[in-house]
Amino acid sequence: LWTPANIVEDAIAKVRAQVGDQKVLLGLSGGVDSSVVAALLHKAIGTQLTCVFVDNGLLRKNEGDQVMEMFAKNMGVKVIRVDAEEAFLSKLAGEADPEKKRKSIGNTFIEIFDQEATKLKDVNFLAQGTIYPDVIESAASKTGKAHVIKSHHNVGGLPDDMAMDLVEPLRELFKDEVRRIGLELGLPYDMVYRHPFPGPGLGVRILGEVKKDYADILREADAIFLEELHRADWYHKTSQAFAVFLPVKSVGVVGDARRYEYVIALRAVETIDFMTARWAHLPYELLETVSNRIINEIKQVSRVAYDVSSKPPATIEWE
Ligand code: XMP
Repeated sequence: LWTPANIVEDAIAKVRAQVGDQKVLLGLSGGVDSSVVAALLHKAIGTQLTCVFVDNGLLRKNEGDQVMEMFAKNMGVKVIRVDAEEAFLSKLAGEADPEKKRKSIGNTFIEIFDQEATKLKDVNFLAQGTIYPDVIESAASKTGKAHVIKSHHNVGGLPDDMAMDLVEPLRELFKDEVRRIGLELGLPYDMVYRHPFPGPGLGVRILGEVKKDYADILREADAIFLEELHRADWYHKTSQAFAVFLPVKSVGVVGDARRYEYVIALRAVETIDFMTARWAHLPYELLETVSNRIINEIKQVSRVAYDVSSKPPATIEWE
């Protein structure tokens, strides 16, 4: 019988049988899949699990602290936080090509994760939040964007010489099943039902070259947008919503003076499968509140635009 409780019980038994009393390493991203694996493995094998959380400097506002708070502080999971902003940003400097940016971020992630892994002694297993659609996707496509996407964080992204066996307790599950298991394991609703966030993070939401200043501005704008979506009860009515940073200057008037500042675009979509998507018909009042707040609270922004493009042909992300 498929119930979340049965699946959890079964998965715990399987993990225990597979790893015995040996140690397991997990790359925790804060996304749904790796979070559910962390909660599951913590329940199954407790302190035999070590998580590595890489802060690449391209996360949303307060995200790193929230991950640490939930897993390390509240649940008592062993989590090593690596502050690697400097490494990621210095490798990205001067690079404006979206696919090269993705590659750079993916490679730096593997490098940093590898460094941390080799510092840990006697780890025999690598856990991953691979879910059934990832398995299908990586089998079906060895080329093209789908494979590129998954190669960052999920299937087959790590070097072969990391001689560890894989622990993939979600491998046979669909996303909605993973979510129900997350709830069963006691993860909060808002974490389990959060929007997807791409592996390269804000790196693909800052158009062109990535700079720390840009990331800081974008983090503020994005946080305002998400806060107002939650407040208006619209967050869970959209499938994905975020701000995008445009490195162009547009005019605004403050008092008697004209000032030239950056542009923020807001993106919100409704979709079932993320292959096609409709732009979300957010209430004008909500857009107005968000726009006013962003322009008033962030002095480097003079203009806010709302993206009314559907997919196809426009993708959900701007890069
Ligand atoms: P697009 O922009 O292709 O996005 O319509 C579809 C979904 O995929 C996510 N996405 C990514 N996820 N690495 C990821 O892990 C990536 O490079 C990447 N690019 C897009 C996007 O956020 C959306 O949910």
